Amino acid sequence: SPQELDLRIRAAKHALGERAVVLGHFYQRDEVIQYADFVGDSFQLAQAAKTCPNAEAIIFCGVHFMAETADMLSRVDQSVILPNLAAGCSMADMADIDSVSECWEQLEEIYGTEADADGRVPVIPVTYMNSSAALKAFCGERGGVVCTSSNAAVVLQWAFERGQRVLFFPDQHLGRNTAKKMGVPLAQMPTWDPRKPMGGNTAATLESAKVLLWHGFCSVHKRFSVAQIEQARKDYPGVRVIVHPECPMEVVDAADAAGSTDFIVKAVAAAPAGSTFAIGTEINLVQRLGGQYPQHTIFCLDPVICPCSTMYRIHPGYLAWVLEAFERGDVLNQITVPESIAVPARVALERMLALAP
Ligand code: 13P
Ligand code: SF4
Repeated sequence: SPQELDLRIRAAKHALGERAVVLGHFYQRDEVIQYADFVGDSFQLAQAAKTCPNAEAIIFCGVHFMAETADMLSRVDQSVILPNLAAGCSMADMADIDSVSECWEQLEEIYGTEADADGRVPVIPVTYMNSSAALKAFCGERGGVVCTSSNAAVVLQWAFERGQRVLFFPDQHLGRNTAKKMGVPLAQMPTWDPRKPMGGNTAATLESAKVLLWHGFCSVHKRFSVAQIEQARKDYPGVRVIVHPECPMEVVDAADAAGSTDFIVKAVAAAPAGSTFAIGTEINLVQRLGGQYPQHTIFCLDPVICPCSTMYRIHPGYLAWVLEAFERGDVLNQITVPESIAVPARVALERMLALAP
């Protein structure tokens, strides 16, 4: 029963003390978040994994790529545990190392490998945090970098200073929304579909490209629409619409603001009492904000409940299971990135952390 699980989780956490730290992403359900020692967006959780010196186990209540990152940024004597190994990210799965490598080979043929007179290489690879460790390693090995939704513009600026163009993966929407805000014309942001020859582009399009957008997307954020925003503005005059930059471009353009999950949390926290928010992001975060700020009216832009089904796979039952096992000395569901991948992946991660500490 939930009560029994609650007692077991609290008992295990109490017995373990600082030996186990529970990290929770904003999209986790409240039944899990209540046990988190630290809650944040994917960037803050990566930082947290680097800075919990007394923890022997980092129990990551989030999805697989986040746990991989935590493993690479934490010490070797710390174990990162993902309570349910089936908690992946469908967007991260849309870019695999083989198809990105194949794309890279084609780009080398098209653009060559020589830097221009300003020392800028033909292409800088930039991967969204929502990607496998192998792709972060790919970037680390090729002068590239990682970004999250909270630092994508800073990271892209860094890449533009070093490269004539950027290959951005896996999320086309974050790449497009960020580059557009930075003034890159849409015509210079072709999408790369690995199932098609030359990614589905003509030679002329690729010639003028500034940002090549991998075709990935988030199935949760893809659901938000301009029609929903229009409806919200009609029903609630004065409503503030805030969406995550994984939403399609038209949605981000029609919203009042777009930003990472932490940006959304802070925008709500800073608003004067009586504000109304329509939010375009995962439902667990939206509902939690509604409960935390009863002085505001807060609702999800999408009237159909849209949880991230993989984030939802972390259930208190799994949390109890891994915590109790660790208390007995068993490390279950450990996420370990082999050093051959972790070493170059850390290069790309540390570049990001140095840019946006
Ligand atoms: P944040 O980086 O904003 O936490 O987002 C992660 C994510 O998976 C959004 O779908
Ligand atoms: Fe991945 Fe989308 Fe879920 Fe975020 S909300 S973890 S991008 S599937």
